[in-house]
Amino acid sequence: MTRQQENLFEQITARKKELAGKVLILCHHYQHEDVFQFADLTGDSLKLAREAAEAGEYPYIIFCGVHFMAESADILKADDQAVILPDLNAGCPMADMATVDQVAAAWQELADVCGAQRVVPVTYVNSSARIKAFVGNLGGSVCTSSNAERVLAWALARGEKVFFFPDEHLGRNSSKALGIADDEIVVWRRGEKLGGNSAAQLAGAKTILWNGYCHVHQEFLVRQIREWRKKAPDVRIIVHPESPWEVVRAADFYGSTERIIDAVRQSPPGSTWAIGTEVNLVNRLKKQHGDKHIDLLAPTPCTCATMSCITPVNLLWVLDNLAQGKVVNQIRVDAETAAGAKLALDRMLEI
Ligand code: 13P
Ligand code: SF4
Repeated sequence: MTRQQENLFEQITARKKELAGKVLILCHHYQHEDVFQFADLTGDSLKLAREAAEAGEYPYIIFCGVHFMAESADILKADDQAVILPDLNAGCPMADMATVDQVAAAWQELADVCGAQRVVPVTYVNSSARIKAFVGNLGGSVCTSSNAERVLAWALARGEKVFFFPDEHLGRNSSKALGIADDEIVVWRRGEKLGGNSAAQLAGAKTILWNGYCHVHQEFLVRQIREWRKKAPDVRIIVHPESPWEVVRAADFYGSTERIIDAVRQSPPGSTWAIGTEVNLVNRLKKQHGDKHIDLLAPTPCTCATMSCITPVNLLWVLDNLAQGKVVNQIRVDAETAAGAKLALDRMLEI
């Protein structure tokens, strides 16, 4: 560690002490260690949403994650709390692959062909608050990577079809886990008429999947799994469900970041793991479990560049401002959007 870093970390620690009881720092597992070390609570998207909803006693929540996570926290928090994202550039490229205007237009096209009352919308939590509101107002739900199958099953019990966005892979992996046949899963290609499908294909579909994806999890390939199994026959492969279906099928396990952590924690000493998710989490697991052999599934580092926008420098900047009574980079979802989005988030939390 350089002297400069040491200085920075000392200043953050001092500010945290000064603001104790007022500030809660929530950190997603993909944050770099430099920031993660200052977390009060850590988690996957679902756990962090729950923690934000239950953190009523803290006036300020600093969210070290990406924009949609901070928006969800703002929707679920108490009225007198402020949610802060240390860098407003920390978005999620996958969430940006579906805008509310695109989704509303697609919904209308689908409704004209299939009848709106037969379709239930489900949005992955990696989406804007406006999309969550759209879904909430239509009787649909949010899901995360840890409950997508359960939410999909809930939606299919209420309607004949599910329109799922924005992650095609999570949608397909969850559909397959529920035993839905390949010809009942169709992809809605953004910008194409009827999403590039015929009316008959849409009529026969059970799940209609928006063609969004996470570039980080697209980097994991079946070829890498084969190479690992050749190199280390006892390897256990676990991947995040934002990975393509062929990769999930070839892996031994799949699950949210929290589930990945649990699987590694519960494995016996000496276990070998190849993990298909963001590199910061894999590096942390490697450090925490010196008695196990842990590596990234891919040979090149798979980094979420937008998660990395949150740094100790902008975290300190937020804390310094709070110490002077100033709230910077507050994430505010307008009341009408928040009300609709809360319907969809609450439905998920109930399911
Ligand atoms: P988790 O909910 O599994 O933490 O995933 C969030 C995410 O953005 C993964 O890319
Ligand atoms: Fe979005 Fe992928 Fe980054 Fe997760 S890892 S925040 S899905 S870009």
